[in-house]
Amino acid sequence: MTLPRHIAVIMDGNGRWAEARGLPRSSGHQHGLEPVRMCIRRCRHYGIEALTVYAFSSENWRRPSAEVSGLMNLFFDALESDTGSLLENGVRLRFIGDRDSLEPALRARMAESEQRTAANHQLSFQVAVSYGGRNDLMRAARTLAERCVRGELRSEQIDEAAVAGEVSLAGLPEPDLFIRTGGEQRISNFLLWNIAYSELYFTDTLWPDFDEAAFDAALQQFATRQRRFGLTGAQVVGSQAGQH
Ligand code: FPP
Repeated sequence: MTLPRHIAVIMDGNGRWAEARGLPRSSGHQHGLEPVRMCIRRCRHYGIEALTVYAFSSENWRRPSAEVSGLMNLFFDALESDTGSLLENGVRLRFIGDRDSLEPALRARMAESEQRTAANHQLSFQVAVSYGGRNDLMRAARTLAERCVRGELRSEQIDEAAVAGEVSLAGLPEPDLFIRTGGEQRISNFLLWNIAYSELYFTDTLWPDFDEAAFDAALQQFATRQRRFGLTGAQVVGSQAGQH
């Protein structure tokens, strides 16, 4: 089976999952942790190199303050409870997004977990917190402009590789599979630069219900897609034949 090297996930539907059970939305987020752990285990099982999840978007700050602080506490507690297991399982944890908007205590905990797992290399696990894809691209543009101003770079040297080297996921393979749970079929300002050629997979399953079978169904679907990268189907088949 053809496997993706990198999976990006929008974990949607926690609130609806909780509301359907008469529970507070925070309970849905709490139940959303186990599917994250499952995805990490499954990626390790299949030897998938990278997993990037959208935990909190730059737009999520507009939610009721109790929900926002509940989510921040959940991230804090999850780092406390799960960093040891990431460390033991060869998982390197990194955060992408605008850290300046986060509480100093959470920022410190994030940095500590990143440092503790920095030497791991079996799975790169990125958590997007206060992340927006446009902001990511804007920051890359600003960094490149600053390098031009300092005379380190000429504007004609700004090519796709230069931009790719400045966005948050620089150095990782591009996500070849993009999963969104919860029924919406949108990108919602997630990894805009990196998903240019990703296979998109949408499922109605709400994130807390996303289990091993649901994860494997996404992989099965990915394996059936023919990735053409702008070529014709015949060209792709021809180039694959040439590889053998
Ligand atoms: C979207 O559901 C989900 C979130 C905004 C939070 C996701 C966070 C987790 C699952 C915890 C993960 C934690 C770590 C440390 C990786 P929603 O609230 O938009 O659901 P709705 O569309 O049903 O309202």
